[in-house]
Amino acid sequence: MTDEKIAGWDQYWAHGFLTSCADAFRGNYEGAMRGAWETAFSALPEGSRILDVATGNGAIALIAAATARDQGKKFSIDAFDLARIDPHKATARQHRELLDDIRFHPRVDAAALPFADAEFDFVCGHFALEYTAVERAVAELDRVCDKQAAGLFVMHHANSVILQTTAEEKRHLALLDETALFEHAGAFIDLVGSTAPKMRAHLQTLPHAEQLRTALNTAAARVTEAVGTATHPEILRTALTVVADAYNQVGTRGLDAATTRLASGSEQIRANASRLADLVAAARSRKQMAELESLFVANHFAATTVDTLEDDNGLLIGWTLEINRND
Ligand SMILES: C[S@@+](CC[C@H](N)C(=O)[O-])C[C@H]1O[C@@H](n2cnc3c(N)ncnc32)[C@H](O)[C@@H]1O
Repeated sequence: MTDEKIAGWDQYWAHGFLTSCADAFRGNYEGAMRGAWETAFSALPEGSRILDVATGNGAIALIAAATARDQGKKFSIDAFDLARIDPHKATARQHRELLDDIRFHPRVDAAALPFADAEFDFVCGHFALEYTAVERAVAELDRVCDKQAAGLFVMHHANSVILQTTAEEKRHLALLDETALFEHAGAFIDLVGSTAPKMRAHLQTLPHAEQLRTALNTAAARVTEAVGTATHPEILRTALTVVADAYNQVGTRGLDAATTRLASGSEQIRANASRLADLVAAARSRKQMAELESLFVANHFAATTVDTLEDDNGLLIGWTLEINRND
């Protein structure tokens, strides 16, 4: 991953999201996604040593910890990610004690794991492996997995509902660029903020000021219209909120505060672009899943793409790949 992409994930996790699908889940994964993991962890014996690959803010590791507690078992859980993660910020207060059951390892690349040979009995990853340099990652899993180890990966499916959402969100980011909403907001805010408060009422008599206002209103109207027809309007709504907040701050906190609000808000929204591009690149076709199975086989695992995982409404959400030792 490039530094820019890592920075995108750093920013995402610092926001306090617990899962990589924050639009769909307020807290942790629920429904069929959570069910698949609970079933897998429930079947593991007492004392299992679990490794969660590309853990993000620890969603899957937390399900493992919760399942162990529910069953009165103890697991040893390690969870790593290349990004700077913040599981404490992301975990609801009532679940924070589960974090004590997990060792988190930020800034760890799947291609170079800081773990001993044969240290784990079970490896898992949710929308994880497909983001890594997979050949080196699988070789590392081979090294750190014990002789009887097994594992489960839920992976992005090229035709999933998540990929459809991603396509829509990419269109929304393109609309923000096309309408130049943030740029028009910046120009108008600059003008208002650099005009003495008692003179602001006169701005509407100045053609140049009216031009800037009209440009901003036109851009905002197009974005608002798109919100009305969108299935997932979160990015567009956030963009409009950022602009409205920044504009209001000119009057209440001054030009500098307004400019900072606009710059940080727009940067945060644009950081989504690299995350969404990453997601598209991570999605796997059936042929690519077969290639991944072969890679595991070459690294001393049996591997089967078991099934496609569907959510509670029957919508496709991903592949499930099971691995076992075959030596
Ligand atoms: C879609 S998120 C999934 C996070 C988490 N498993 C979840 O479901 O919420 C993908 C994660 O892969 C991480 N990642 C990407 N490349 C990686 C690598 N080479 N090694 C470790 N983590 C990596 C990113 O930082 C990001 O947190």
